Order: sequence, then structure tokens, then C-alpha cells
Amino acid sequence: MEACIYKKFGKENVLEWVDGWPKPECKPDSVIIEVAAISINPKDALLRKGKFSRTLARDPLPRLTGLDGSGVVVEVGENVSRIEVGDAVFGMTNNFSGGVLGAFAEFKETEVAKAPGTISLVEAASIPLAAQTALQALRDICGISRDKKVLITGASGGVGHFAIQIARRLGAEVHGICSTDNIEFVSSLGANCIYDYKKNEPVAIDDQYDAIFDAAGRYEREYFSKQLGKNGIFVTTVPTGKSLLSELLARLKVRIKNRLVFVHSSHKDLNQLSDWVDSKKLFTHIQKVYDKNEIVEAHTQIQSGHTRGKIVVSTQPGAASDIDPDA
Ligand SMILES: NC(=O)c1ccc[n+]([C@@H]2O[C@H](COP(=O)([O-])OP(=O)(O)OC[C@H]3O[C@@H](n4cnc5c(N)ncnc54)[C@H](OP(=O)(O)O)[C@@H]3O)[C@@H](O)[C@H]2O)c1
Repeated sequence: MEACIYKKFGKENVLEWVDGWPKPECKPDSVIIEVAAISINPKDALLRKGKFSRTLARDPLPRLTGLDGSGVVVEVGENVSRIEVGDAVFGMTNNFSGGVLGAFAEFKETEVAKAPGTISLVEAASIPLAAQTALQALRDICGISRDKKVLITGASGGVGHFAIQIARRLGAEVHGICSTDNIEFVSSLGANCIYDYKKNEPVAIDDQYDAIFDAAGRYEREYFSKQLGKNGIFVTTVPTGKSLLSELLARLKVRIKNRLVFVHSSHKDLNQLSDWVDSKKLFTHIQKVYDKNEIVEAHTQIQSGHTRGKIVVSTQPGAASDIDPDA
């Protein structure tokens, strides 16, 4: 089959489409989908550069790129009960090294759910990794519910633009941090208050929060000690030696207020997101849909660190022109 792979670690141009890559085998608990589109995440670029290759991402080279996406099921394993051939699904692989950007991709049944019925498969592809990260950080780690106040950094990015909306859905008062150009966009997501990090250092924010979700992964708990006090929870998205140690201490119940989210794909969370999308309580903003031959450009864009919402690579000819980011 056709597949987008890298044979060595390096810059964007190590990515190439090849023909004759083996089609994935359908295991008893798996489904095979014909891929419609995948989303591009900062982690795709990190994996391509060789990050985590001695720890969590040990799959050998050459490797397929891609972590989350959408498509139509063409095969199901003998133990699969929720999904049928012909279903349109969206999901994320829990294989840390990724591997979904081919003509076909294998997912565990538990990593996918039926795609929202009210949006296209190209739009659905943008949701699984970034929105599950936001949901799991806010609901499971921050314990966001009614009467809580949360501050979200990177409020206009892939994770952040879902986080602002999800925190509102969970009933919280939501404040966001973004750059000047994104203030109007973050306001349209429902943020109650917005801070422009280009104009003022967030350390100067004169407010108190139950939780700060550092979706941008640019800060540390100590930076926000005034805004969090003793009891506020800080959650970062970026695994570093320090944040991994903090997360270990939290899981050992030694110091529980400094956390790291590790997104895990779950069909229950995908179903929740799908319900919100179909009931117009959550939307995805796609800055651009790239054609599959523009994979290098898509990686260059995600590496800018300034994508508004999500970017997606479509494997279907013509899909790239169907989405209007300003609609
Ligand atoms: N641990 C996990 O499970 C997990 C899961 C998903 C993502 N992540 C990580 O989370 C991070 C964000 O992912 P993403 O998909 O949201 O990335 P993204 O779409 O590229 O968004 C990056 C965001 O960072 C903001 N930003 C850039 N420079 C900044 C600065 N100097 N100060 C404050 N904010 C700044 C950008 O806002 P402006 O454009 O307004 O500057 C943008 O909103 C990445 O590091 C990613 O690897 C981790």
C-alpha cells in the first residue's frame, strides 16, 4: 500500500510517500480503516526528529508517521463488537511511535469510535489526540467542574482551542492566554477572560485559579505560584525530566499538585467528544487542510508553534479545498 514514512530521523524532508508498504494485518481486537485524513501534532515532528527513540518510541526505522485520524472501517477482528465494516470512525493510536499515515491503518477497537455524523471525516481527523488531551487534563487531572476557575495557556492552539471549549462544557469559569492575533479567536471559543502574553508576562496576572492547564507547555508550576496558591493544580503537556518526576511524585501521592498529562485514546472519551460535536457544543477549527503530497509543508507549519486550531493532511483528492477556516 501507499505509506508516508521516514527512513532516518531528521528535518521535514526525511518524510516520503512510498508504494509497496505492507498493509497492516487485522488482529482479533483491531480494526483496519481506509484512512481519509490524519491530523498533524507537534509530537509528529518530535518523533520524526528522533525524540523518545531510546525510551518510549522504540519502533524501528523505517516508520510510518501519524498518530490520529479518521477513515472508513474495511476489516474487523474476531473479538470486535462495537464497530462494523463500513463505519466511519475517528481515533488515535496508543502506540507511542505512531504509524497511521498510510492508505490503511490498524487501530485497537478501544482506540476508535464512530466519527461525529455532522462533520466531514477530514474535520473529524483533527479531533482525537488534541481534544482527548484537553478532556483528560481538565476532567481527570484538574477535576474541573462547576464553580471552578481555570486558566489555559496556548488557548488558540490544537490542544488549547479544545480545552477552552471543554472547560466551559464542564461548567468552569475559563480564562485563556494567547498572542495578540488570536484574541478574537479565543473569545469566539467562549473564554470568559483573555490575557495577551505578548503584551504582559502571565506571571503578572492578578487572579487566583483552582487549576492552570499549560496546554502550550511553556511554563512551570513555580512560575504561577501566586495564581495557584497552595491548593491549585498545575498540569503541563510537555514531558521533561522535571515534569516526569513531578508526575511520578503525584502518582505516589507525595506531591499531587504538579502534573503532566499523558493522552491515552479511549473510545468512551471519543464518544463524549463526538456527542458534543454533534450537539454543537464543541467545534474544531482547522487552519488548513493539506494534500497528502504537502506533508513536508504541514510539518513545517506545526513546528512554527503558532498554528491556530488544527492542521490536517487529507489522503482524498480535492478535500484540501473543501474547508474554509473562517467559516
Ligand atoms: N502530553 C501529552 O499527552 C500531549 C498531548 C498533546 C500535545 N502535547 C504537547 O502540547 C503542546 C501543545 O500542543 P498543540 O497541539 O496545542 O500545539 P500547537 O497547535 O502548535 O499550539 C501551540 C500553542 O502554543 C502557543 N505559544 C507559542 N509560543 C508561545 C509562547 N512563547 N508563550 C505562550 N504560548 C505560546 C501558541 O499560541 P500563539 O500562536 O497565540 O502564540 C499555540 O496556541 C506541544 O508541546 C505538544 O507536544 C502533549
